[in-house]
Amino acid sequence: MVGIWDDFFRAEAAESYDAMHMYLNQTWKEVKRVLVPGGIACVNIGDATRTKDGVFHLYPNHSRVIETFERMDLITLPYILWKKPTTKPRYKGKGAFLGSGFLPPNAYVTLDMEYILIFRNGTLRTFEPKDPKRYRSKFTKIQRDEWFSQVWTVTGARQTHGGLERRVAAFPEEIPRRLIRMFSIEGDLVVDPFLGSGTTLKAAMDLGRRFIGYERLGDFSGIIRERMGRDSERIVFQKQSVAEQISELKA
Ligand SMILES: C[S@@+](CC[C@H](N)C(=O)[O-])C[C@H]1O[C@@H](n2cnc3c(N)ncnc32)[C@H](O)[C@@H]1O
Repeated sequence: MVGIWDDFFRAEAAESYDAMHMYLNQTWKEVKRVLVPGGIACVNIGDATRTKDGVFHLYPNHSRVIETFERMDLITLPYILWKKPTTKPRYKGKGAFLGSGFLPPNAYVTLDMEYILIFRNGTLRTFEPKDPKRYRSKFTKIQRDEWFSQVWTVTGARQTHGGLERRVAAFPEEIPRRLIRMFSIEGDLVVDPFLGSGTTLKAAMDLGRRFIGYERLGDFSGIIRERMGRDSERIVFQKQSVAEQISELKA
């Protein structure tokens, strides 16, 4: 998230924290619109720190997103803290923890967690008794105990395309794989408004879910096709101009 804020959002002229969240809110509105009753939305977001005019600030992105979803009348469920084991402590959010970094009281705690926020659209989803697709989607006790606990330790995404995964802040496949298994059943439609290098698409297809993704940059299609191997024949990429999107919304 921090990376996107710097590179992508600055390019969009959303230079401030508020402007970034106003930009994101447009997507959250669409997420609410397309969610089925009882459907679940998961948002992976990290907080950020910046020093502005010599003063340190924490930007708690996760709380902004929760407030937005609450205002849209979605139900906030307990969230997951994704701990990335590779992150080393950094002194005052900057360099290595050296010298005076070992002396109290002026060092800061390192942000080495990201949030996976979870929201439900209204009441619980209902199913026919013994719905075969639901039963085929069940998880094991070991999976339940690990997945439904609040702290996940999952290593970062493998870098396979010259650092592209880092540039688009790709998460490791294990993250969407777990969430899709936890909150959808076989044949459900998974929607990812921030497709990037297609990590969620890959997990959704492997797990027998249908999928629609949106990506504002066109140049990921080759990477996604390569990543999907033979399954890539089942993917249709459609270019849509902003004008087309607006007229579709009005129709
Ligand atoms: C954090 S990355 C997603 C990474 C993805 N999970 C992956 O595994 O590669 C966010 C992506 O969303 C795209 N994006 C940002 N705003 C968008 C919007 N309004 N509509 C569609 N795509 C958008 C960016 O171009 C970027 O590729």
